[in-house]
Amino acid sequence: MAFAIEIKQLVKIYDNRVRALDGIDLEIKAGDIFALLGPNGAGKTTLMRILTTQLKPASGEAYIFGMDVVKKDSQVRKVIGYVPQEMSVWTDITGFENLLIYAKIYGLPQKSMKKVISEALESMGLSAVSNNLVKTYSGGMIRRLEIACAMLIKPRVLFLDEPTIGLDPSARKAVWEKLSAFKKEYGITIFFSTHNMEEADLYSDEIAIIDRGRTVKFGTPLELKRSIRREVIRFGLKNHDIGEEVLGRIRGLGFVSGVAVSNSVLDVIVEDAETALPDVMEVLRNKGISILRVSTTRPTLDDVFLKYAGAISTATGSIKEIRQTRERERKG
Ligand SMILES: Nc1ncnc2c1ncn2[C@@H]1O[C@H](COP(=O)(O)OP(=O)(O)O)[C@@H](O)[C@H]1O
Ligand SMILES: [Mg+2]
Repeated sequence: MAFAIEIKQLVKIYDNRVRALDGIDLEIKAGDIFALLGPNGAGKTTLMRILTTQLKPASGEAYIFGMDVVKKDSQVRKVIGYVPQEMSVWTDITGFENLLIYAKIYGLPQKSMKKVISEALESMGLSAVSNNLVKTYSGGMIRRLEIACAMLIKPRVLFLDEPTIGLDPSARKAVWEKLSAFKKEYGITIFFSTHNMEEADLYSDEIAIIDRGRTVKFGTPLELKRSIRREVIRFGLKNHDIGEEVLGRIRGLGFVSGVAVSNSVLDVIVEDAETALPDVMEVLRNKGISILRVSTTRPTLDDVFLKYAGAISTATGSIKEIRQTRERERKG
């Protein structure tokens, strides 16, 4: 298995006291879209800054395609692109001019520069506005321009820190359509951070939930949702009077972890609705209870997040810390 990113027991301490990363372990497969999900202050930006060679860890190791991010930092920088959370383009010049500046910073060869830039504009859907001033762009267009800049060197790994923060759902979708196309076309590995669960669920192959500098959960979106082991089967019933005896029988089915009845609605909480459904229906049928409707509710990533990170983070974290994080976010 070729890992694009390997992280071993990574620790980062700020000012000799803030343990921003507290022993992170992660392995990310080449070609995957990976979501780093965590509440504010969890350590997402810190981890991304270490992986992109901007910060040094206190201890532990991290590798990009086998290259140590501390010892081989200049080699690492040749294969990565980074889109920071804060704005990284100039707004008083055009999109094209921004790309030209980045192309020069990256030292792209002069003769292919124009071609590479127009390809980058094309792939991010910005050709038509390339000669307009960036200050006339929407938030989503600015994000796509920033991604186009980072993509100029055709990186093998693209890091995006909260790429769609502040974007509305349609702009977010447009950004991800372009990123997914990149993944398909170039097999690029994408590492992005977010505190938006829906975004992680929709667009990532694998997710790590981190909280207070530790990995609390890792897996595919489906695995994470399954790990909750809680689905609700809801029956709409014809006759309302469902007695204690029937409820007792359903509870007695072993795999049932809860039953609730209210008016003509019966909720049965199980680990896996699909396998549980026939047995529950049989109990109801045997008792002559007519079922009008059946639906099942599966856990969302919100449930997963709440279970693994939500409770911990809201219970701790001083006001001062929250203010500091906000302040930094405001400044970008
Ligand atoms: N430059 C810094 N100096 C001191 N503390 C910092 C600095 N940057 C981040 N922190 C602290 O490290 C922790 C993780 O921050 P950060 O990596 O920005 O989290 P996230 O990106 O998940 O919101 C927080 O407690 C934050 O207050
Ligand atoms: Mg951050």
